[in-house]
Amino acid sequence: MKRIFAAILLLATAVSAAAQDKSTVKVGAPEGDQVIPREIYGQFAEHLGSGIYGGIWVGPESPIPNINGYRTDVLEALKAIKVPLVRWPGGCFADDYHWRNGIGPREKRPSITNNNWGGTVEDNSFGTHEFLDFCELLGCEPYISGNVGSGSVEELADWIEYMTAASDTPMSRLRRQNGRDKPWKVKYIGIGNEAWGCGGNMRPEYYSDLLRRYATYCHDFDGNKLFIIASGASDYDYNWTDVILKNRKGKMDGISLHYYSVDNWGNKGSATDFTKDDWYWVLGKSTEVEEVIKNHIALMDKYDPRKRIALCLDEWGTWWNVEPGTNPGHLFQQSTMRDAMVASTTLDICHKYSDRLKMTNIAQMVNVLQAMVLTQGEKMLLTPTYYVYKMYTVHQGATFLPVEVSTATKEVRGGRGKATRTIPLLSATASRDGAGKVHISLSNLDADNAHEVTVDLEAVSKSSKAVGEILASKNITDHNEFGKPEVVKAVPFKDFRFKGGQLTVKMPAASIVTIELQ
Ligand code: AHR
Repeated sequence: MKRIFAAILLLATAVSAAAQDKSTVKVGAPEGDQVIPREIYGQFAEHLGSGIYGGIWVGPESPIPNINGYRTDVLEALKAIKVPLVRWPGGCFADDYHWRNGIGPREKRPSITNNNWGGTVEDNSFGTHEFLDFCELLGCEPYISGNVGSGSVEELADWIEYMTAASDTPMSRLRRQNGRDKPWKVKYIGIGNEAWGCGGNMRPEYYSDLLRRYATYCHDFDGNKLFIIASGASDYDYNWTDVILKNRKGKMDGISLHYYSVDNWGNKGSATDFTKDDWYWVLGKSTEVEEVIKNHIALMDKYDPRKRIALCLDEWGTWWNVEPGTNPGHLFQQSTMRDAMVASTTLDICHKYSDRLKMTNIAQMVNVLQAMVLTQGEKMLLTPTYYVYKMYTVHQGATFLPVEVSTATKEVRGGRGKATRTIPLLSATASRDGAGKVHISLSNLDADNAHEVTVDLEAVSKSSKAVGEILASKNITDHNEFGKPEVVKAVPFKDFRFKGGQLTVKMPAASIVTIELQ
């Protein structure tokens, strides 16, 4: 293990070694007016397994407590993490979805086979109205992923008119017949999903023409203003981003990027049964997203130096083998402290690039992949990842404060390509909210050692009082189960001293802390 300065904002300057389990963080004053967009905390809800049916939607007749068919427990849990935005209906499902099947009286809607995810038959009882009403209940922005792979330009144009036209048009009339007078407010429209894969297996040259064509007919109705997002690259595919940006013409407000923390798609590993080497390996893979984001941004800077186009990391997270005994097509996985650490360190990175990276959607919100909550019948539990989102709500919409981190690093090796990666063992982020309060979040990636972290806050706070919260557990494999739902949870944290602008925090191994300066 060697010591370096891992500069979380600007610098990566080598400095002299310090004791092994000591780290320092310097929080700087804001440079410019970089705000952490609330949309960095976006969610993704696909028709996949019990991501929608059973997870969000149980129908108004269900014995499971619900509000107009939406599970009350899930709704309340999501409200508590201030979900700013939800992307729907996919994912791969989006390019197979025909919205007209999901409107009108529920008993008359046709059933469909979900060809992407386990061949499950769905009754379409959760459609456009149910999704957009859900967003209204939750108080979040809807992000509609349009069907380019198997849908038509007309279908997408009509869908937008159906959702957003206030005046008397054929589609707003249809919506009114279906019981909704007022249009919904819909901002985000994705032009397809993974067009290079399940969204049509296209070449970037071909997709960029389709993007221009589909976007042309995405109209702004009656004051509703759309934000058009191009289907972007998968992780290291820089050519995709290059071609789409080079060929762009007309409407395009954002381009997406997908990054999952997986190297071996053949055997992704167990979510709960893993070693310390596995822990470090996935943190190496997940923190590599920084390099990927940087490289895509460099291309964007070339074509769009004024930063008018947003980068949207609209799918990311861990992806493990499904829980034993569950349908392999339903992507139901557990979430441990390891997933929580992937979440906190990824969010730290996303804050840093938020002058260009304006949205992220973790995959996925309920019961699928790195979920916030898991349900089983009437039971619901909160995952360790949920607690990270809860502790990080304070950073939503807050002014970004640059941090410099000096910590030990560790070389990690693993994955199919046996890649070697070097990871800093401490990650940090800081922000100042609208009320002037400074929050700092620290993640100790070290699975073996506690770290004493000294945070220099002199440049940003004159306060002398602080309160903290911590997410930690005895074992890195700890997780919450339906029989034991509170093994891992955030609790108040007091193991720090705060004096003269210096915060000294004693962080247990594999822990995540957020401290508020009051
Ligand atoms: O999130 C699961 C799937 O991963 C999505 O449907 C797809 O877009 C991606 O490949």
